[in-house]
Amino acid sequence: MPPLLQINNLIHRFPDGTLAVNGVNWAVEPGEYIVLSGSNGSGKTALVRHFNGLLRPTSGTVLLNGIPVQKQLLEARQAVGMVFQDAASQMVAQTVYDEVAFGPENLCLPAPEIHRRVQDALAWVGLQGFENRHPFELSGGEQRRLAIAGILVMRPQMLVFDEPFNGLDFAGVVQTLQQMVRLHQNGHTILVITHDLEKTLAHATRLVFMQNGQLVADGTPETVLPLAPRFGVKRPYPVDRPITSMTWLTN
Ligand SMILES: Nc1ncnc2c1ncn2[C@@H]1O[C@H](COP(=O)(O)OP(=O)(O)OP(=O)(O)O)[C@@H](O)[C@H]1O
Ligand SMILES: [Mg+2]
Repeated sequence: MPPLLQINNLIHRFPDGTLAVNGVNWAVEPGEYIVLSGSNGSGKTALVRHFNGLLRPTSGTVLLNGIPVQKQLLEARQAVGMVFQDAASQMVAQTVYDEVAFGPENLCLPAPEIHRRVQDALAWVGLQGFENRHPFELSGGEQRRLAIAGILVMRPQMLVFDEPFNGLDFAGVVQTLQQMVRLHQNGHTILVITHDLEKTLAHATRLVFMQNGQLVADGTPETVLPLAPRFGVKRPYPVDRPITSMTWLTN
């Protein structure tokens, strides 16, 4: 079986000449829980936006389940869901229900199937009872859960979270972490972009750093964590504490 994602010699240059991704070769296997970190501007967001075709490679290829993303854009949008830090700004509908139904409606699924999927997705993130609220009348943490529901409703293989903890209070962080861990336990592949290693590293199977558009470290959290300061990322303290004990989840 091919990897979930196979990235070959990926380069992305923005129209103004900025080289955001500079020769990435990488693979992601199903079931991984990856933390991707690195300093501001190192190319993390630009890299992951190629996974579902939001960005087109300047050169190189991104294969999803063995097929170039560019040849299956609709499937790629379904298979790889992305939760961005400004989740609310991407919301399009007038109600929570319609926001979650938007994706499956675009797939032209039958109405009963859409209804079932929306109910399942809202239940999964604990937003039942919010169906008729306007998305902008939710808290930041609730909006992030709504964004997750809008992705789960598409039955994705992989979820990418780009800075999911920004602006959340302690309860919001714990809720978001719980969602991510449950999604991983449920068989989804997870990639979290964060500078906050201590929040999620205990759950990760792999830690990756980017610098200047390149992957500069990739391995188990134990082996890669000591390199954090070199790549502009704060090492969680105390430094001698085992990674597995750095969990923010109480259960
Ligand atoms: N639309 C754009 N046009 C031109 N340059 C861009 C654009 N978007 C990002 N860049 C540049 O590409 C590089 C990589 O940006 P990217 O957003 O991928 O970084 P990042 O690692 O996600 O950073 P952060 O941690 O701040 O989110 C940066 O130099 C950035 O200024
Ligand atoms: Mg970014």
